[in-house]
Amino acid sequence: MSLNARKLTFEIFRYNPEDPRSVPRTDTFELDETPFMTLYIALNQIRERFDAGLQFDFACRSAICGSCGMMVNGRPALACRTLTGDLPEKIQLYPLPAFKLVGDLSVDTGTWFREMSERTEAWIHERKPFDAGATEERMSDELADAIYENDRCIECGCCVASCGVANLDDTFLAGAGLNRVARFMLDPRDSRSDADWFDVVAGEQGVFGCFGMMACGDVCPKDLPLLDVYAYLRRKTLGARFVSEGDE
Ligand code: SF4
Ligand code: SF4
Ligand code: FES
Repeated sequence: MSLNARKLTFEIFRYNPEDPRSVPRTDTFELDETPFMTLYIALNQIRERFDAGLQFDFACRSAICGSCGMMVNGRPALACRTLTGDLPEKIQLYPLPAFKLVGDLSVDTGTWFREMSERTEAWIHERKPFDAGATEERMSDELADAIYENDRCIECGCCVASCGVANLDDTFLAGAGLNRVARFMLDPRDSRSDADWFDVVAGEQGVFGCFGMMACGDVCPKDLPLLDVYAYLRRKTLGARFVSEGDE
């Protein structure tokens, strides 16, 4: 330990919803900070040295799998990419809200994302009959890049946890859901029309339920351009509305 190392105090939420004797509380742990320590490293040290039962999720340790999202001093963040050096000496860790609690810092984001994917039918809808002899469908580099930009979402849930609307309404699509819809709207292989998309994304569970204060964009660890996504969705859905009204 270096002479100047800080002593960090971690206040960590504890609760096991599967155990009827468990009562929500916080436990406090102290660690000496080491160079380039991340919350992922700190939590593993706490689990190895003080409490083997501490629950939290991780897989990749490099901001790719999206499993280590948690509330860090009141703000959603990935534990594996948060340096303790960027935080004060007292660090409060809570599970992400808006998701079902598994235990302590571990939440079930998978169910939320599966339900959102099923509701928005987040897969390519191809209405042309299959032709085994057809040539490869081409798209411009610019369009492929734009789709890839939306596809960078790692489903960490930080945007959902930061969103006041999503915390009150678990059917609200939130940043991750709206971004997913935009990804398929952009894709020329998806044959859904603007009017089809209107039913999916307009309304209070979609882009018109969004307050636009952009907490989601502030916390997204992949810096997805969510503001551009919402502007795109509003333009497309309003266009579809005017077209269908004009047809009536
Ligand atoms: S901008 Fe919209 S989606 Fe993002 S946090 Fe605010 S209400 Fe939620
Ligand atoms: S949009 Fe960003 S914050 Fe939301 S789930 Fe995807 S990567 Fe995480
Ligand atoms: S452990 Fe995979 S994103 Fe943090």
